[in-house]
Amino acid sequence: MSTVIETHNLAKHYRDLVAVNDLNLRVEQGEIFGFLGPNGAGKTTTILMLLGLTEPTSGQASVCGFDPARQPLEVKKRVGYLPENPGYYEDMTAWENLLYIARLNRIPEGEARRRVTLLLEQVGLAADGDRLVREFSRGMKQRLGIAEVLVKEPQVLVLDEPTLGLDPDGAVRILELITKLSHERGLTVLLSSHLLHQVQQMCRRIGIIVKGRMIVQGEVSKLGSAILKERQWNFLVQVDGRTDALENELRSLNGVAEVEPRTGGWLLRCTEDVRPQLVSLVTKKGLSLLQLRSEDPTLEEIYLKYFREA
Ligand SMILES: Nc1ncnc2c1ncn2[C@@H]1O[C@H](COP(=O)(O)OP(=O)(O)O)[C@@H](O)[C@H]1O
Ligand SMILES: [Mg+2]
Repeated sequence: MSTVIETHNLAKHYRDLVAVNDLNLRVEQGEIFGFLGPNGAGKTTTILMLLGLTEPTSGQASVCGFDPARQPLEVKKRVGYLPENPGYYEDMTAWENLLYIARLNRIPEGEARRRVTLLLEQVGLAADGDRLVREFSRGMKQRLGIAEVLVKEPQVLVLDEPTLGLDPDGAVRILELITKLSHERGLTVLLSSHLLHQVQQMCRRIGIIVKGRMIVQGEVSKLGSAILKERQWNFLVQVDGRTDALENELRSLNGVAEVEPRTGGWLLRCTEDVRPQLVSLVTKKGLSLLQLRSEDPTLEEIYLKYFREA
């Protein structure tokens, strides 16, 4: 697998403020990478450096094999960038906006019309192409924004908070669209967000940035189990005939820290793997075990954990 975006100790200082602090980021060909962190963490500043729109204070970046600080045009040719607050020509139709972008990119007229028609369809705006953008909802504008960055057929998409200002349903639909397009077109996507749960399912790898520092980066599934080892084991237990007596005995098992009632059973938060003791306890009581499932920590838990530590 080849690396499409890579940074080496990338940093940006604004006077005394360290907006991005020795950041090492890696995004691989064809993946959707979630660049996560709270507001003010340094996501947008990083993205601006990746596109050559602001100069790093120190460190390097490489995007599609080019240094954005030295060859910004080479990077811009290959990367479609949707900023946090994209602007549109509000008094033009969606079709006109897209065609205008195509002309700016010097795409021949016939080809431009072909692409615009296809893109309006792909982003779900085929029926709205002739409407003024002024009349568009926030969600429709985001769809149009995605179509705009695709006009020049980039290899990479960089989307800065693409779900900002959308309601939960609108956000899900935009993320589904991004996933679909990424698969159809073999695109590499870097997507920033401060809303972890929204992007959780669609990313293979994530990086979490807090106060300019990348505090964790890797595959979502592996990050989960790393935390599991370090922090706690969670088990969901269901038996036929849940009793208070059993609950108390579960509580007194070695390694069980907390017992929380759940439908038909309990969630056990443990400091070690208590499954063997648990099974023998239940058997001794003459009950049958209906379910014993290890609950991996959600990305939300990982995120909160690292936020607290930072
Ligand atoms: N042009 C600028 N001048 C001074 N400070 C800035 C500038 N741009 C961003 N910052 C500061 O840098 C930090 C990171 O901001 P930003 O990259 O926008 O974070 P995020 O996109 O993660 O919300 C913040 O503290 C912000 O106030
Ligand atoms: Mg931002």
